[in-house]
Amino acid sequence: MILITGGCGYLGSHCAINLLERNTEICIVDNFSNSSIEILDKIKSISKKHFKFYQGDVRDKKFINALFLKKNIDAVIHFAGLKSVSESEKDPSEYFSNNITGTINIIELMKLNKINHFIFSSSATVYGNQHPPPWDEKLKLKSPTNPYAKSKFIIEEILRSFVIDNKEFRAGILRYFNPIGAHPSGLLGEEIHSGRNLVPAILNSLIHSDEYLSVYGNDYPTPDGSGIRDYIHVSDLIDGHLKALNYIKTNRGCHVWNLGSGNGYSVLQIIQVFESILKRKINFKFEGRRKGDLPEYWALINKAEKELNWSPRKSINDMVYDILNHLNKTRPNLKILKN
Ligand code: NAD
Ligand code: UD1
Repeated sequence: MILITGGCGYLGSHCAINLLERNTEICIVDNFSNSSIEILDKIKSISKKHFKFYQGDVRDKKFINALFLKKNIDAVIHFAGLKSVSESEKDPSEYFSNNITGTINIIELMKLNKINHFIFSSSATVYGNQHPPPWDEKLKLKSPTNPYAKSKFIIEEILRSFVIDNKEFRAGILRYFNPIGAHPSGLLGEEIHSGRNLVPAILNSLIHSDEYLSVYGNDYPTPDGSGIRDYIHVSDLIDGHLKALNYIKTNRGCHVWNLGSGNGYSVLQIIQVFESILKRKINFKFEGRRKGDLPEYWALINKAEKELNWSPRKSINDMVYDILNHLNKTRPNLKILKN
């Protein structure tokens, strides 16, 4: 059985469905700090499968240990954590507590209960601002400055040390670039209120006709002046998790893989993709650069392609279509998609 921590969140819920559809036994732990109980029904209705859910916090040792004792868990996919850079700057200790303490807790209890397979949600943000793109896993990292990125960097270091002292323990560190997209059913996707990322901001401008999208920066040294990122469909990203889990079953140690599409798209290109599917214009204005943003970055994904036999299948058009299909299904009164 696989434990999915944070399994009611954006990425964890897609992972749960994928595993259930492959008839894998799973259980989910979530404290609902950034999700809700309704997600459980959505996972059930899409997968048509049963699974166990436990409400609780990954920092609660008694709770996690009782779960490990009760269930026959042989792997943990650890999504539970906080993910906003700006929030982390306002409340660093909450980020260190949830992300670092939560992860240490899980791996210590895994050791105690002889559970040896661990997949960790890291982020491209660990590369910081020291290297020109594309970024590959061999680049040397320095501790990043914002608390969110620092928490991911520190956990990566902890995992590298942990496997040295615990030879049977295997860890897969996945550095996500920009996951977007939604489940093809349209029932599940990223919550629009969840932070100030580009996709929720675009959707917000579609929902509220009097609001416009702020495009942060038109003077970057990029072909059209707007920022470039590597967007990856959530379903491709989750596929990478299952392949990483298979890999660590036969390979000891701590392994790192980038999960991105390997391509960069600018903010203006993303807007154009939305406009072509919507068959209408998006209301946007240029604003100054957002503090902390880099002009451009994207991933080198050769390592995951070669070692995991993984490659992303969904195009940027697929990602945007699925996002709009989700909006269309959840807010039918908006009549977002024409046909
Ligand atoms: P999310 O907020 O949608 O999901 C996280 C889930 O974990 C939520 O359901 C939340 O309630 C739960 N949770 C948080 N703290 C918890 C705790 N202490 N105990 C139990 N449950 C807890 O986020 P997501 O987008 O699904 O991201 C999942 C992971 O991937 C996070 O660790 C995040 O840092 C990382 N990540 C996400 C992105 C992204 O763009 N979505 C990019 C890079 C890395
Ligand atoms: C951000 C986080 C990163 C996290 C990722 C999750 C920061 C600095 N980085 O990445 O750690 O892993 O989210 O997806 O917060 N943009 C606009 N208008 C908007 C919002 C964004 O123009 O309203 C632009 C940004 O300037 C950037 C691009 O869109 O060029 C993508 O931004 P965003 O979706 O916020 O992701 P990142 O900043 O890449």
